[in-house]
Amino acid sequence: MQHTNVDLDAKIPNNVDLKSDKRLQRALEHWLPQYLEWWKDMGPADKFNENDVYLRTAVGVGKGGWAHFDYVKMPDYRWGIFLAEPVDRTIHFGDNIGKPIWNEVPGEMRNRLRRLIVTQADTEPASVEQQRLLGRTAPSLADMRSLFQVNVEEGRHLWAMVYLLHTFFGSDGRDEAEELLQRRSGNADKPRILQAFNQPIETWVDFFCFTTFTDRDGKYQLASLAESGFDPLARSTQFMLTEEAYHMQTGENGIGRIAHRTAELLREGTDPRSVGAIPLELLQKYINFWFSASMDLFGGEDSTNAAESFASGLKGRYREGDGIYKDPKALGQDYTIDVVEGGRLVEKQVPLRRAMNALLLDAYIADCTRIVARWNRDLAKLDCNFEFVLPSKRFNRNQGVYAQFRFTPEGELIDEATWQRDSGAWLPTKEDRDYVASCMKPVYEPGKYANWIAPHTQGVNDTPLDFQYVKFH
Ligand SMILES: [Fe+2]
Ligand SMILES: [Fe+2]
Repeated sequence: MQHTNVDLDAKIPNNVDLKSDKRLQRALEHWLPQYLEWWKDMGPADKFNENDVYLRTAVGVGKGGWAHFDYVKMPDYRWGIFLAEPVDRTIHFGDNIGKPIWNEVPGEMRNRLRRLIVTQADTEPASVEQQRLLGRTAPSLADMRSLFQVNVEEGRHLWAMVYLLHTFFGSDGRDEAEELLQRRSGNADKPRILQAFNQPIETWVDFFCFTTFTDRDGKYQLASLAESGFDPLARSTQFMLTEEAYHMQTGENGIGRIAHRTAELLREGTDPRSVGAIPLELLQKYINFWFSASMDLFGGEDSTNAAESFASGLKGRYREGDGIYKDPKALGQDYTIDVVEGGRLVEKQVPLRRAMNALLLDAYIADCTRIVARWNRDLAKLDCNFEFVLPSKRFNRNQGVYAQFRFTPEGELIDEATWQRDSGAWLPTKEDRDYVASCMKPVYEPGKYANWIAPHTQGVNDTPLDFQYVKFH
């Protein structure tokens, strides 16, 4: 089929036959220097852009061997446009089921689709901005490499979405692409679209929580878009998911390694605070914060907007194509949401289609639950009887049906006074954040690690752990 030849020598590496569309190619080549300008301003701070970093670069989309590892200075990274291989398929859910997939945007779906793409796209540069200072306090060179790997790949994800905007949305799309470089995470005048992407990521504990919980929201959003009847979006997000797996693994391993280190200290009778390590209760508060902030990204539990995206075939359920749902049209079924009425929780039935966000959130929570169980298994192996717990989906929410109310981490409805009195025990306080920040001392010697985190158990791409992942100049 078309579009599968990889052109790695082009100014913008791609497998979308960019050179056959001169107008598009020119438009993207015009966007490139603006992107590089943004990277210089808002990408990794200080002189990290001058260092040689051992990074993987996407060079194709084949099952094995799509990535190439080598030293590269980040501004020279080969950000490319890669779509997964096309497959012969029809739309497999919603009202348009059985109809051919779209390779152009159906007119009546244009605004909705643009909104979906822009919202996804906006998160990519936002996270790079949020993480820009972390190189200063990297707990090891291997962790620094992971950070920069995540950063350049988020940059590539922005490219993936900007390609769609430029190709299918004309001058509106070009305007959106420019605005993606103008908004800034946390900026009062031009903030990023979604709130979790305006939170500062001040420490590596935040970074590992973010990559565990917030990148994982990304996984679920991308996975539901990978089901899309709009094929370029489906194929683009499919390939993004292969890169995203590494980001989530970075987070899961990171939190796991912090907990591991603390449990080792506890086993030998050392107070973690006395050696600048992270108490497990404190880690739990960060988990509470980032898990709840990430749940807000799923949108309202009862949403006509989500219903329409599903009905039209633009956004499916998680693994919709795997045949795990009994009705691909999702009709004639209800979903139960616990809502607050008259000061207590009561069950409310909504038509399943309107509960698409809630359904995706459920899949996400199940995934997060498995990860927490893995952390707890490791703690148990170290004779530590502390167990991490995910808070209730009602806890600390700023979006959806629980946003107007206060709940304990167990999900019990409480009043504002109780929240004010107790929330410092559930979420990081200023003192907690100051303490964690005080633990963040850079370790740049190959193979050495900061005292608050256990070493990796293996190096990326079969490298030894004392590998010089970053060469300073
Ligand atoms: Fe991403
Ligand atoms: Fe990511």
